[in-house]
Amino acid sequence: MLFKKKNRKSELDMSRLPTHIGVIMDGNGRWAKKRGLPRSAGHQAGADTLKKIVTECNKMGIKYITVYAFSTENWKRPKEEVDFLMNLLMSYLKDAERTLAGENVVIRAIGSRRELSEEMCRQIEKTENFTKNNTGIVMNIALNYGGREEIVHAVKDIFKKLEDGECNIGDVDADMISDNLYTKGQPDPDFIIRTSNEQRLSNFMMWQASYSEFYFTERLWPDFSVKDLHDAIIEYQSRDRRYGGV
Ligand code: FPP
Repeated sequence: MLFKKKNRKSELDMSRLPTHIGVIMDGNGRWAKKRGLPRSAGHQAGADTLKKIVTECNKMGIKYITVYAFSTENWKRPKEEVDFLMNLLMSYLKDAERTLAGENVVIRAIGSRRELSEEMCRQIEKTENFTKNNTGIVMNIALNYGGREEIVHAVKDIFKKLEDGECNIGDVDADMISDNLYTKGQPDPDFIIRTSNEQRLSNFMMWQASYSEFYFTERLWPDFSVKDLHDAIIEYQSRDRRYGGV
């Protein structure tokens, strides 16, 4: 027989959790459309789902979660939707100081700050400072984030160091690139979940995803539940990660 069906376990193995999970939270618009609601209602419901999933990941002992909240390409959406998402993100950050921070979550924003409003940049700094001494899960909110932009940003920083004589061309290696990304000091994501049946990376963690396991589900993000998260992790635990070895 060519393909042997693997014995899939149906229970979570708490000793083999992914250290870092990435989430591409897709399907908010379709969720709203199905209910005859405006897209903004889908994003609002998506933000509520996110809160539940981060709380659960933190409880389980997962160390890092990176969520794709707004990409460098999302500026192409209608102004009304962009404004709504920015306001939602702002209130999410403010609210997180009361809720997630109290749950010991460390909140960080990754992405370029250049195009963000001053008010947003101030709020990001405030929330980051407020939560930086927490010891629970690190939540990276990818905001105005694009994997290619992140790599360009890293390359520019490395060129600057070369120009300033802080390092030599021979020192440039994969570790140096990793150390100049927004996720500096963090492990690469072991597992990336994308909802709503789209099966692509869409410029998310391009460098860091080299050896990530991918999981695609039909579930629309606002419907993604704690059980769906557990099922996804059970599937992750059935994967054989070889990193190019045998
Ligand atoms: C993709 O769904 C989702 C986004 C572009 C935004 C993700 C944002 C959230 C889940 C809520 C806000 C996040 C935070 C951190 C507060 P889509 O709109 O492309 O859905 P569609 O493909 O069904 O149209």
